[in-house]
Amino acid sequence: RKQVFRLSTGSCNLDRLLGGGIESMSITEAFGEFRTGKTQLSHTLCVTAQMPGANGYLGGKVMFIDTEHTFRPDRLRAIADRFNLDQTAVLENILYARAYNSEHQFELLESVAVKFHEEAGIFKLLIVDSIMALFRVDYCGRGELADRQQKLGQMMSKLQKISEEFNVAVFVTNQITSSFSGILSEDQLSKPVGGNVLAHASTTRLALRKAGVGNKRIAKIYDSPDLEESEATFVITTGGVDD
Ligand code: GTP
Ligand code: MG
Repeated sequence: RKQVFRLSTGSCNLDRLLGGGIESMSITEAFGEFRTGKTQLSHTLCVTAQMPGANGYLGGKVMFIDTEHTFRPDRLRAIADRFNLDQTAVLENILYARAYNSEHQFELLESVAVKFHEEAGIFKLLIVDSIMALFRVDYCGRGELADRQQKLGQMMSKLQKISEEFNVAVFVTNQITSSFSGILSEDQLSKPVGGNVLAHASTTRLALRKAGVGNKRIAKIYDSPDLEESEATFVITTGGVDD
């Protein structure tokens, strides 16, 4: 029997907001403007996923799909230090793949499923940072929106299937843009790129925004069937996401 587990974000506040961390057998989507911490959160999860956690969770390997070339081993080394983990061991437990276009991104998911099958029970986390960037490039014309949403829908179903079949947590990021810098209105928050397709496929949606100057950020649970729409603050540090 598959036992659902949760992975710590590195911030107790954020974990509490999420009901204990990001959940396996489901997709968590973090969306927000540039520099809101989506990639830093991805990196922190790469490390915390390797550590023992609540309810007998023992830790496991991570698959990281990078579409924006923002994966940084040096950041992982610093986060490993924070948790007193061996840097080399931490890096060795992360399987990295760069996606070059949206088709390739989809194909990579096929390979991921094969890998997760071969190494049954070893992988605990699959990250796609970011889920939409390549789709935005590949389907840029107005007339292509329907095609894009269809492909995106297929990819989200594939991710959901992988999360359930292999009992892994899936974490995806999604950049949203605002016409004013740094200020997100409720209206803009309700329209992340990807629209309804992402909204329906993701089990938990986390809206991230900046809180003034510095490294403080605010996270809000968005549109969840079973979590309260409350907020939590966290900070981005050299050691990753923290309180
Ligand atoms: P986009 O991918 O552009 O949409 O942004 P993002 O949401 O992925 O932002 P990201 O996670 O890259 O966060 C960038 C923020 O993290 C910046 O404000 C950096 O100052 C902060 N940051 C990155 N590395 C470090 C670090 O080593 N130490 C500290 N203190 N902050 C860092
Ligand atoms: Mg990023």
